Amino acid sequence: MTSTADTIRNAIWQGDCIELMQAMPARSVDFILTDPPYIVRYKDRTGRSIANDDRGDWLEPAARAMYRVLKNDSLCVSFYGWTQTDRFMSAWRAAGFRIVGHIVFRKRYASKARFVSYTHESAYVLAKGQPALPNNPPADVMDWTYTGNRLHPTQKPISILKPLIEAFCPEGGLVLDPFCGSGSTLVAACDANCDYLGIELDRSYHRIAARRLVA
Ligand SMILES: C[S@@+](CC[C@H](N)C(=O)[O-])C[C@H]1O[C@@H](n2cnc3c(N)ncnc32)[C@H](O)[C@@H]1O
Repeated sequence: MTSTADTIRNAIWQGDCIELMQAMPARSVDFILTDPPYIVRYKDRTGRSIANDDRGDWLEPAARAMYRVLKNDSLCVSFYGWTQTDRFMSAWRAAGFRIVGHIVFRKRYASKARFVSYTHESAYVLAKGQPALPNNPPADVMDWTYTGNRLHPTQKPISILKPLIEAFCPEGGLVLDPFCGSGSTLVAACDANCDYLGIELDRSYHRIAARRLVA
């Protein structure tokens, strides 16, 4: 499949994001906001797991594909798993991204406890080229809202995604989430009056995202 500038707006594709991004026109999206697998073999209490969370061979090709489809002088925000920081960081750097910010999302509850209680999520802000500074730079510590994870085992709250889109995506621009899960980024893009493109490998989450976006 070869996609064109017309077919990439307000769509949710089911499939492997690496292949699908490779078929997209280069420099066609204004902002990437994504939440890839953390490579931690995650399983929630009900046994739900995440595709490709048990391997990291997709990391470098996905970073390269994201870099290619992002417009010059634009930004990407990617969540990541802190146990694999070195692998995420080297994949982003090898693709050409510069690290320009780090965001901590503070939870009011612990998702797990081992040596410490896990009460935060985190994301890096990655630059392609020299993006303009935002008019209102968001704080790099934000409060997290619990979603209940009803639609997806690692469902992200719209309340933290929307301010990132408002800060980093030009008005009416196209937001890409190549690992879109239940479509939280896409809903946030709509709420921020932007266009969206989501890609999801798992057929059931793709269906959930598609339903969510027509609701
Ligand atoms: C951490 S979850 C995203 C959850 C999402 N932020 C939400 O709020 O629902 C990562 C998603 O990436 C998907 N995924 C893994 N490998 C993929 C690939 N190669 N292409 C597209 N999606 C993939 C998984 O099925 C999973 O739903």
